[in-house]
Amino acid sequence: MTSLEPIFEAIKTSAFRIHEAITNEDTDYSAQSNQSGDIQLKLDIISDLIIAEEFSKLPVIKTIASEEKEEAETLHPDGQLLIAYDPLDGSSLIDVNLSVGSIFGIYDGGWDAQNMIAAVYVVYGPRLEMVTAYHESVRHYIYRHGRFKEMELIKLNEKGKLNAPGSTQNCWSSEHKALIEELFDEGYRLRYSGGMVPDLHQILLKGGGLFSYPATSDRPNGKLRKLFEVFPFAFIYELAGGEAIGAKGERLMELPCSEPHESAPCYFGSKYEIAKAKDVCCKQ
Ligand code: AHG
Ligand code: MN
Ligand code: MN
Repeated sequence: MTSLEPIFEAIKTSAFRIHEAITNEDTDYSAQSNQSGDIQLKLDIISDLIIAEEFSKLPVIKTIASEEKEEAETLHPDGQLLIAYDPLDGSSLIDVNLSVGSIFGIYDGGWDAQNMIAAVYVVYGPRLEMVTAYHESVRHYIYRHGRFKEMELIKLNEKGKLNAPGSTQNCWSSEHKALIEELFDEGYRLRYSGGMVPDLHQILLKGGGLFSYPATSDRPNGKLRKLFEVFPFAFIYELAGGEAIGAKGERLMELPCSEPHESAPCYFGSKYEIAKAKDVCCKQ
């Protein structure tokens, strides 16, 4: 048992409970919105409550921060670890029954990316799956017959075939347009569902490609939130042999975070596509 095993077990229990909620609860919006200004689905709130309840059973967890909570919350003052999570990522896809996910970043010592020691995501699709990045490897689990079965380790190829560009073209910079165009000219296929968990999971399992959510004219700091979305996937992509960079080509894992809901432009991919992104749109 690794020392994070109780946390991974709590995430598995949460995943199972959230999967049940997605199957059985209604998919309506609530009357509330979160810190990012998104109107919350009832399922966003339920998923957040489930995870907070499971984590509150573990004395090692000092503080949690959630996309659905305004402020970080102390669970156990004598605990050691901090966990940031997006309880239901891609929740606007719930009504059309596309895949959604949960994302977790586990930190020791503070919320800056350098303090991350592990990252985990769960995919709620036709199957329930989990991916953990910890101790130098990215592990893939599929839920079968009542338990998460470990599959092969996840490793990215040097170069992939998929292109997943976020936001809308009329908000992209000319450099970003050029990057996306170049990849399509090279034969890359468009694969973008609007849920970063299934979109990034697809690129990881199909060997590579590029997922980008750049700085846009309507969101100069991008849309995706550092703590709940950007840092965990940066950690996972780097461990899987890929790279994850920001608007200036810097490693996302070197960025500080001063406020829990802060966002950052981001590019995740295998080495070939990231080199191209650095070359075409991160030169300034
Ligand atoms: P959430 O449902 O947690 O608010 O996250 C939605 C995010 C992410 O999953 C996805 O990649 C992105 O929003 C899609 O945004 P665009 O529709 O602007 O591309
Ligand atoms: Mn999200
Ligand atoms: Mn969410």
